[in-house]
Amino acid sequence: MARKTGQTVAIYPGSFDPITNGHLDLIERGARLFDRLIVAILRNEGKEPLFTAEERVEMLRHVLRDFANVEVDAFEGLLVDYAARKGASVIVRGIRAVSDYEYELQMALMNRRLAPEIETVFLMAGEAYSFISSRLVKEVASLGGDVSGLVPPLVEARLRERVGTPLPKGRSS
Ligand code: PNS
Repeated sequence: MARKTGQTVAIYPGSFDPITNGHLDLIERGARLFDRLIVAILRNEGKEPLFTAEERVEMLRHVLRDFANVEVDAFEGLLVDYAARKGASVIVRGIRAVSDYEYELQMALMNRRLAPEIETVFLMAGEAYSFISSRLVKEVASLGGDVSGLVPPLVEARLRERVGTPLPKGRSS
């Protein structure tokens, strides 16, 4: 078996539209495991994201500003090509529940076929985050529900601006 030399660079890719506290939990775990962790936002304008790639980069950079070994970037094209350009040997993905597994396994095996030298590592989000998804957060926020505690405060504010709903009852700021 080849011996590991140098630093291990890992990529944590995703849409992050927007980042949730579940993503944040994963990033904290990944930052402890790897020398460098690159949080890579897919430029998926075709999917009509709520926030542009630039807005997502800006939010993530703010939220992750205290992590010394974490950087934020945006990419397009194949993830494995991007990972190779960055010198990354690991792709990190989060698994919340068994329902995530099938899709994640398909992606991991496709990526392995494309680039066998890159390993996908699955991390389990903390159980407190197992029900949080960007899609549900956007839906709840757009219907005026309270998303505090599910996303970082900056994201909560940006969601409020973007979907234009008033604060939930009983909250003044
Ligand atoms: O947060 P998401 O939307 O579940 O992330 C999906 C993502 C960005 C990891 C995936 O769509 C991706 O890697 N896209 C880049 C294009 C690519 O490489 N496709 C083949 C992967 S099997």
